[in-house]
Amino acid sequence: MITLKNGRILSTDGFIEKDVLIENGKIVKIDNNINQGRIIDCKNKIIAPSFIDPHVHMREPGFEAKETIKQGSLAAAKGGYTKVFLMPNINPKPNNLENINYINDIIKRDSVIDSIQSGTITLNQSGLGNDLSDMESIAPYVCGYSDDGNGVYTSSTMYEAMKIAKKVNKPIISHCEDRDMLFGGVIHEGEFSKKNNVPGIPGISETLEVARNAILALETGCHLHICHTSIKETIDIIRYFKSVGCNITCEVSPHHLTLTDEDIDINDANYKMNPPLSSKKDVEALINGLIDGTIDCIATDHAPHTEEEKTRGILKAPFGIVGLETAFPVLYTDLVKTGILSLEFVLDKLSNSVAKIFKLDNNNIVVGNDANIVVIDLEKEFEINKNDFVSKGKNTPYHGKKCYGQINLTILRGEIIYEL
Ligand code: NCD
Ligand code: ZN
Repeated sequence: MITLKNGRILSTDGFIEKDVLIENGKIVKIDNNINQGRIIDCKNKIIAPSFIDPHVHMREPGFEAKETIKQGSLAAAKGGYTKVFLMPNINPKPNNLENINYINDIIKRDSVIDSIQSGTITLNQSGLGNDLSDMESIAPYVCGYSDDGNGVYTSSTMYEAMKIAKKVNKPIISHCEDRDMLFGGVIHEGEFSKKNNVPGIPGISETLEVARNAILALETGCHLHICHTSIKETIDIIRYFKSVGCNITCEVSPHHLTLTDEDIDINDANYKMNPPLSSKKDVEALINGLIDGTIDCIATDHAPHTEEEKTRGILKAPFGIVGLETAFPVLYTDLVKTGILSLEFVLDKLSNSVAKIFKLDNNNIVVGNDANIVVIDLEKEFEINKNDFVSKGKNTPYHGKKCYGQINLTILRGEIIYEL
């Protein structure tokens, strides 16, 4: 038994000041003056539904030098997450039942949170060719289908994949990037890339594929979830397709909401990720898209790489940054404390909004629900230090950033999986 005492609970009716009693994995009582079992003082702290991240790279099996399911899941717990979707750019690929079973055995053994693997769309996850993965047979074991890291090249391949996804009632989780339109770019194409003479990726490489996939989703009725949106026109397109009844949802990452290409240090590949940091105009559109509901949720796109890989320079280093351990503090400090977004809104976009669009159980703090809870200190200032990360990946542009919103405790089904 655990009593969370004296905290401010984000309940389904907004913030309330009460105690929470947890027993046998469940929330059993929310009331004043509870003093049972282990008492955890949450004075001046908030008690909220734990986070769900629909976009995480844990790199195992295949790339364990970058991250493992053990370390990645511990990093997620430290960031307040109790459930994540795992991306498919691993080896062997999650493209058939045998490989999915193999991956799920590692998850069962090592993951301290609920990690759900995605299956690939194309057989080898390259997005090329017309061969699809064993989409139907793996359906019961995956959160959806994705070739994340790659766009699906041919329209007919995506069309066939969507028809199967619709039939088995699973989402297509779509990394949108038209590979013909990248031109060897490594950062967003715009004034900043030109001024610094760094090859740019045109924003339309994203919007072209978003538009095509939205048209295919409207035609097939499949749930299309667009990954890591970064461009104003992407949001305009998604807003339009939502308005005509397309089953389309999307996510945005904390770095795309809080940094622009002007913030890039071109000597530091920890500012290099896919899609790249975009312009001020794009960031404003992403924030407005989140506020007006066009963007459904926030996903970290946690993409760990080794320090050696990230010291190869902006041209040669791989794309990607870690995000699980910095997401909430960065969002809280830059968007809530500054008055741009409300705390309740951000907490919802990190948790129950994700549950809603993917038809998962919610993490509401109500009697009878599983105790999936995060306790957060909003008052104490702290500094993000990559050397404190539990993740194997230290590749963050936020090293040294002064923040508020430190995660103190993460609880999954009544069990403490992280404690500061
Ligand atoms: C991802 C990775 O490293 O796996 N990188 C990234 O910059 N987001 C792949 C991807 O999503 O493009
Ligand atoms: Zn991606």
